[in-house]
Amino acid sequence: MISTIEWKNGKVMMLDQSILPLEVKYVECTDYRKVAEGIKKLWIRGAPAIGIAAAMGIALGAQDIKAATMDDFLRKLEPVMDEILATRPTAVNIRWAVERIKKFLAAHRAESIEKIKQLLIGESQSILEEDIEINKSIGRWGAQFVKDGDTILTHCNAGSLATGGYGTATAPMLMAAKEQGKKIQVIADETRPVLQGARLTSWELMQAGIPVTLITDNTAGALMKKGMIDLAIVGTDRTTRNGDVANKIGTYTVAVMCREHGIPFYVAAPLSSIDFTMASGDLIPIEERHADEVTSIWGHRVAPEGVNVINLAFDVTPAKYVTSLFTEKGAFKPQDIKKLLREDVDLESIRLRPL
Ligand code: MRU
Repeated sequence: MISTIEWKNGKVMMLDQSILPLEVKYVECTDYRKVAEGIKKLWIRGAPAIGIAAAMGIALGAQDIKAATMDDFLRKLEPVMDEILATRPTAVNIRWAVERIKKFLAAHRAESIEKIKQLLIGESQSILEEDIEINKSIGRWGAQFVKDGDTILTHCNAGSLATGGYGTATAPMLMAAKEQGKKIQVIADETRPVLQGARLTSWELMQAGIPVTLITDNTAGALMKKGMIDLAIVGTDRTTRNGDVANKIGTYTVAVMCREHGIPFYVAAPLSSIDFTMASGDLIPIEERHADEVTSIWGHRVAPEGVNVINLAFDVTPAKYVTSLFTEKGAFKPQDIKKLLREDVDLESIRLRPL
């Protein structure tokens, strides 16, 4: 499994996903600003992966702070966290990571500044390691809904590259194929405009030995109509309390098409991607990216100069289109997701099982 991001010799090493699969190159970040730049420029992308990058960026920023007191240290760390928070607005994992680090700092206030700098490195590494375990757990729950012989549609990249490893949407695929010996195949939407499906998902799955077929985004509906897709599994950048799902632009179209054709539409959602503070999907800030991503393909202009462009990076799929959310705690109906907040909830009573 290729590493997306790691802390190595006092630096953050980030795989530059913007040039994959043509080049496999790591960017060396010695400054938290470089980490922030990497998140903005999609050197690292995918909700859990940018959460990990946020934590490592903060740990990196902390190393350079010179402070006489803990109060002074924490004050100087604030702008680092603010800059990281401002990189990308839709995936809630960045805020989740910043909040986790803030809680960690509060719990370790009594330590020396030098000690806390070391502890922050460890905490960011723990976030990465925990993420891999969470994904495996998502995979175990989700794989129950994958049958021998199934063809699975996925959109964008919610694979190993988008996480600490193993992926979220890819976890049930890997678990079904590798651990349970089910024969499956995957159809990957290319995912315009940045082509995460073509460049990343197909590359990753080929490396994992899972049969994968690449299609243009426009092809998915036609394949559903021909009966060539059994289920869809996608990731999420932010799922709100009511089960609405923000994910890569085009996901909504896939979900509506699945409903039309009676195909289950599943969302792999680690709890770090669920925003329990937000009531519904219409409140999610949707990132708009530069027009160049649409008017040019790999530096080659394909649209006329001066054309007006709308480049929304994400859309929101209403909960009513989501068959089930695969989390590390089980598979749940979208309307039951809010119950996970309650300490006294009997998970077994709300877990979904395949029919
Ligand atoms: O713009 P990106 O490439 O960061 O968008 C990524 C997605 O939409 C993924 O599906 C989502 O972050 C889930 S990743 C496990």
